[in-house]
Amino acid sequence: MRLRRLAKIARVVGKYRLDKLLDKDSLPFSMRALLAPAALFGGNSAPRGERLRMALEELGPIFIKFGQLLSTRPDLVPSDICTELAQLQDNVPPFSPTTFKANIEAALEDTVDNLFHSFEAEPLASASVAQVHAAVLTDGRDVVVKAVRPGIEKTIRKDIALLYTLARLLAKYSEDGRRLRPLEVVADYEMVILEELNLQSEGANASLLRHNFENSPLLYVPEIHWPYSNENVLVMERIYGIPVTNMADLEAAGVDMKLLAERGVEIFFTQVFEHNFFHADMHPGNIFVDASKPKSPSYLAIDCAIMGSLSSDDQFYLARNLLAIFKRDYRQVAELHIRSGWVPADTPVNEFTGAIRSVCEPIFERPLNEISLGHMLISLFNTARRFNMEVQPSLVLLQKTLLNIEGLGRQMYPQLDLWTTAQPFLEKWLKDRYSPKSIFKQFKRHVPDWLEHLPQIPPLIFQALQNMQQSPISTVAPSPVAKEKSSSKPRRMINRFGAALLGIGIGLASPHWAEPISQIPASSLILGGMGLLLLLLR
Ligand SMILES: Nc1ncnc2c1ncn2[C@@H]1O[C@H](COP(=O)(O)OP(=O)(O)O)[C@@H](O)[C@H]1O
Ligand SMILES: [Mg+2]
Repeated sequence: MRLRRLAKIARVVGKYRLDKLLDKDSLPFSMRALLAPAALFGGNSAPRGERLRMALEELGPIFIKFGQLLSTRPDLVPSDICTELAQLQDNVPPFSPTTFKANIEAALEDTVDNLFHSFEAEPLASASVAQVHAAVLTDGRDVVVKAVRPGIEKTIRKDIALLYTLARLLAKYSEDGRRLRPLEVVADYEMVILEELNLQSEGANASLLRHNFENSPLLYVPEIHWPYSNENVLVMERIYGIPVTNMADLEAAGVDMKLLAERGVEIFFTQVFEHNFFHADMHPGNIFVDASKPKSPSYLAIDCAIMGSLSSDDQFYLARNLLAIFKRDYRQVAELHIRSGWVPADTPVNEFTGAIRSVCEPIFERPLNEISLGHMLISLFNTARRFNMEVQPSLVLLQKTLLNIEGLGRQMYPQLDLWTTAQPFLEKWLKDRYSPKSIFKQFKRHVPDWLEHLPQIPPLIFQALQNMQQSPISTVAPSPVAKEKSSSKPRRMINRFGAALLGIGIGLASPHWAEPISQIPASSLILGGMGLLLLLLR
């Protein structure tokens, strides 16, 4: 198995002279022997990006998809290679409708004739992982049915193993290759592609995204028909929209392109900051436009296999970082990176500030509508990487999605100024995060945990009081200083404890001030009462 894998690598590496990407001198004898036949293929003089693209095409759809993913990482991949890889197309022939139907029947334990009123044999789309057919439910609703390619999981696991071998080679024997962070990139790809195999999780993501944008004029997500869906099949409402890159049709429908582009940015920021759940596969095949109200156009999103979310801290630091960048306050950007723990605590602030300044300042020379926020973030993270920042996968997803959104938005409306949309949004978000309402909301989230511990509190209080009484003050006569110390510590603890209980009680009761005492939750009265008792008895 391993031998076959190595032979395959040797053949493709030789044919496209990818061995030239490795540092020959650092290779051990065994590797040199394995790659020696490459020279027999002569000097393939095509540029490196083209050779790599052709090699991936030859290796098959899972590699093509990998190449497509690489093309969305301008932060790691040199631009000549990125441009080549972006041209990769996966022209996978569809699998037969008979196999598709057999899969559906096995997964749903019923016949297609029973399940659907009609079923289109010609697929709507067929890609390396999944295939999609249109159908009509017995109640007349139009749907699409999605299922994964038979046997694809085995192929994926085999190909990923091959990719890991290549990544290890690159990491070990190429200086340039190491900069690509090959193992990290392959691990990222593995996670993404395995995620796409589980249609239950894709359906669940779609349901949540749909719920988050319920009644919103910005985005519509088709409904998942759960009785017909599971890990292996997804049946969802069929949508009819204009593909987002079809400018001619959008313009013909009289769509307000400026508003459409701005709404794209608004959706992105709403997902990242308000919902903390963002669609992270925003490529054009997954986004459509509902042009039924051209002056108030909305988006339609499908294919929710890959979603991102940030930790609460990352959200906060990202918002503050973006605001600081646009104020050109590079010192604050550097300090925020340190405070968030993105870079080590001992990072030299001045040096880091200078490095950030030197990448960001030239960007600000251009008019705002020409500045790419996505590229700015990439430059920033790349600078931070030099200062040992480990860019978390969730931040990489975010940076990629931002690039996509920006690219799409500018295609629709070249003067799009992302900053005009982003700045007020971020400022409001930060302000709201500290509003009394939101603090109370956070506070309320913790209340059930506190209540869980409530029954343990009275015995603890009595124990604390007992401890105080039995404190050695009465038996031994310590020095005045020691006496002060020994009696003040438990007392301080009880003070704090009592004050905390009282605070919690008041907090819980606060939304009910205007109501009669019988309406105030008993838990708040009990907690507050106990706190007060402690403070009085201490
Ligand atoms: N709900 C839907 N309504 C209409 N067309 C759909 C729907 N879902 C998928 N399609 C069509 O099928 C294509 C592939 O679906 P998608 O879920 O993006 O699969 P993949 O994971 O292979 O990219 C889409 O680009 C779109 O043309
Ligand atoms: Mg898709």
